[in-house]
Amino acid sequence: VTKIIELNNGHIEEKAIKEAGEVIKNGGLVAFPTETVYGLGANALDEDAVGKIFEAKGRPQDNPLIVHIGDISQIYELVEEVPEKALMLMEKFWPGPLTLLFNKNEKVPLKTTGGLQSVAIRMPKNEIAIKLINESKVPIAAPSANLSGKPSPTNASHVIEDLLGKIDIIIDGGTTGVGVESTVLDISTDIPTILRPGGVTLENLLTVFPKVEYDPALESKDKDLVPKSPGQKYKHYSPKANMKIVYGTIEDMSKKINELKDYYTLEGMKVGILATSQTKEKYDLDNTLVLGDRENLESIASNLFDMLRKFDKLEVDIILSEGFEEKGIGKAIMNRMKKAAGGDIIYLD
Ligand code: TXA
Ligand code: MG
Repeated sequence: VTKIIELNNGHIEEKAIKEAGEVIKNGGLVAFPTETVYGLGANALDEDAVGKIFEAKGRPQDNPLIVHIGDISQIYELVEEVPEKALMLMEKFWPGPLTLLFNKNEKVPLKTTGGLQSVAIRMPKNEIAIKLINESKVPIAAPSANLSGKPSPTNASHVIEDLLGKIDIIIDGGTTGVGVESTVLDISTDIPTILRPGGVTLENLLTVFPKVEYDPALESKDKDLVPKSPGQKYKHYSPKANMKIVYGTIEDMSKKINELKDYYTLEGMKVGILATSQTKEKYDLDNTLVLGDRENLESIASNLFDMLRKFDKLEVDIILSEGFEEKGIGKAIMNRMKKAAGGDIIYLD
């Protein structure tokens, strides 16, 4: 049985954190909130405990986990050396949604890193997460707390849907803020390389380095280009329905989506539309969900995974979604949306 601990009224009970910390120490699994999405945590240094994460999620063994630390100095338990570039980033962005790759030391099991010699580390910006790590006194390996392939969880009910009965504790800390996962950055290259766009944007990173690039494999259709972040090669964020994205001016997008809606409806399909507060009036369809405000992409990021799961509940056959400009957090939003849509996007111009 899974114990659900509610800490979503702003008050963090020490007793509850102690109990969850004990479970981690003893090799168990605890789902907990971070500022990005919920994580499914286990002792990062305990191979058997980490093995349970892969099992509960149905996660491929070669997809490495992010190790979460509760204090910057804890990094020295995991790596031999912290490069200068990393120190600059840690100072500016930790705690926060930035994951950095380091050479692991021998204490970090290969199970945790999916067989790689590098280890991904971040310090989350969430009081419950930090208290849990500090209470358990070990670094916590935590992928997103969803079943492999499904949208990441941004509230406790998403975690319950996917993992109830499979893990020891779910800490309900309310809705996470950022809504998309952390940025994974490789600083071992001359030019720092973003392996997964996320909460810390390219523009944010350019305040520290003159040049930052995206892993070319992120956008490429070339099957020979292998993403450096193993997670990027798997199907992910998938709602049950097929999804199609349309991107252009508001007028063009809504016109095209309405045409597609009529077409699929005639085909006998149940259609859902993913719109924004600016455009919802343009669609005459019950299953139109509002993602957020186009002028505030943070609101879109924050709601995206919840909306994808809502369409599962509505049991639509196809989701027609508006697209967003790939600037700032828009890059992470579109990366997740394109994966959810299996790359099915129409660019209008
Ligand atoms: O915001 C987040 O990052 C959330 C919260 C819970 O912290 N975690 C998360 O973990 O999104 P996960 O496992 O769903 O995604 C981790 C990503 C995967 O794409 C994985 O391949 C990549 O990070 N990754 C982890 N270690 C890596 C490594 N050593 N080298 C390259 N990529 C790595
Ligand atoms: Mg994930």
